[in-house]
Formats: sequence, structure tokens, C-alpha cells
Amino acid sequence: MPGPSDTAELEARVRARPLPRHVAIIMDGNGRWARVRGLPRVAGHRQGAAAVRAVTRAARRLGIDALTLYAFSMQNWSRPADEVEALMLLLVEFLEKEQQELLANGIRLNAIGDLERLPARVGSRLESVRQATAGGQGMTLTLALSYGGREELVHAARLAAARGGPVDEAALEAGLWTCGLPSLDLLIRTSGERRISNFLLWQAAYAELYFTDVHWPDFDERELLTAVADFQARQRRFGLTGDQVTGPGGRE
Ligand code: IPE
Ligand code: IPE
Ligand code: MG
Repeated sequence: MPGPSDTAELEARVRARPLPRHVAIIMDGNGRWARVRGLPRVAGHRQGAAAVRAVTRAARRLGIDALTLYAFSMQNWSRPADEVEALMLLLVEFLEKEQQELLANGIRLNAIGDLERLPARVGSRLESVRQATAGGQGMTLTLALSYGGREELVHAARLAAARGGPVDEAALEAGLWTCGLPSLDLLIRTSGERRISNFLLWQAAYAELYFTDVHWPDFDERELLTAVADFQARQRRFGLTGDQVTGPGGRE
């Protein structure tokens, strides 16, 4: 197990280099975390909510501008009703407990997805925390709820068509639920699965992808720092050659 001083050293290294502005996480593996402990899946989701608190705090402390968390997908509606119910309950609990801390740390809460589908008590709680934290300048925490990337693209295309102008990249961008957020730099998925599962399909075009076998409830500040350090060691070329990015013989 790495000790606190290793974490401090890692943090110092990460702080010395440019940070990703926008980090998104597919928080996967709550169910498996619970299963290996002989616990019900819901226990994994509860521990997952604790990880959300810890990682949000760590991202804010580090100075990341935007953290986007995939909390519930459009496809997750098809899970057993009692699991969906438990997740909605945990979400309300999270919002109630976190409002003060978000406010105190200048974190603006945002939500993306087909929010109309959320139960009324979730929708209204979300709206009240969103309004209460709207002035937050430190970081934007976006919860993707009832979210699907394909659904978002259909929504954006419909909006662009309804506006009557050209349906080009800018028009589609403007209709995305993520409009206004910095472009996505780093996309993390926990728990060993190497797929996108309908998350930020458009936004991931040039994001760096990072996969870890750690289950979401075990993901913490150190894991976040490890992912960011990995990101910082990469060269993003956006279609150019390495020389174009760094200059001939150059280094980053
Ligand atoms: C992620 O954990 C949380 C949600 C999708 C809501 P899972 O519930 O998908 O956990 P696994 O993949 O079954 O382990
Ligand atoms: C993606 O995880 C959705 C969230 C993390 C909220 P899933 O567990 O639903 O994805 P699949 O089913 O493994 O692709
Ligand atoms: Mg899963």
C-alpha cells in the first residue's frame, strides 16, 4: 500500500505539469465491489457515493475546472426496479448532504441527460442544488443522469434542424447538453471494462482514455492523481505529426 508521503510526492509531480481542464469518469464496478464482499449491489452503490464525495473534493483541491461523472445511463433504466429505486434514493441523499460542501468549495453543480425522466423528487432536489451553487467559480461538477451519448446527439441534431441554419459542427456543439463546458481532456473508466457505454460520444473524439481495474468504490485521490499523471505523460497530436506538435527534435 502506498503511504501518504508517496501520495504527496505524486501530487507534487502532477502539480508541476499542466492539468487536464475537463476530466470525465465512467464510475463502473459498484456491483462487483459488493459481490466480492458478499454484499448486496446496493452496498456497492452506497460506497460508490462516498467515492464521489472523495474524488470531487480531490479534483477541486487539485484545480481541475470541470469534473463530469457518469452516474446513471439511459440504459440503466432497464435494471431491476429496486436497484433503480435505490440509486435514485442515494442520489437525493447525496444532493442533500453535499449542498453545503459544494457551496463552501465554490463548486457549481450541473446535470446532463434526459432529466425529465428522473423522479420528481430527484429533479426538484437537483434543480435546487443547481440554483444554490450556480455562482460557484472553483469547479463545475456535472452529473450525467439518465444520460446517453446517442440520445444527446439526436437531441442536438433536432435542435440544429429546428433552428433552420446550417447543420454543421458548431450547430451540433451548441445543442449538446455539455455546451459551455471545456472540451474533454481525460476520460477515465474504472473496473476493467474497456468500452465507452454510450458516454460523451462526441466529446471523447480527442480525449485521452484511461482504464483502471480498480472498482469505483475504491477509486480515491491517489487513483485520480495516478490517472492525471498518466495523462500528463502523453503527447496529444490531434491529427498532426509529433514534430508539428513539439518542433523538430523538440521535446514537449
Ligand atoms: C456503476 O456500477 C454504477 C452504475 C452503473 C449505476 P455497476 O452497478 O455497473 O457495477 P458492475 O458493473 O455491475 O460491477
Ligand atoms: C456505464 O456503466 C454507466 C455508468 C457508469 C453510470 P454500465 O455498467 O451501465 O455499462 P455496461 O453495461 O457495462 O456497458
Ligand atoms: Mg457496470
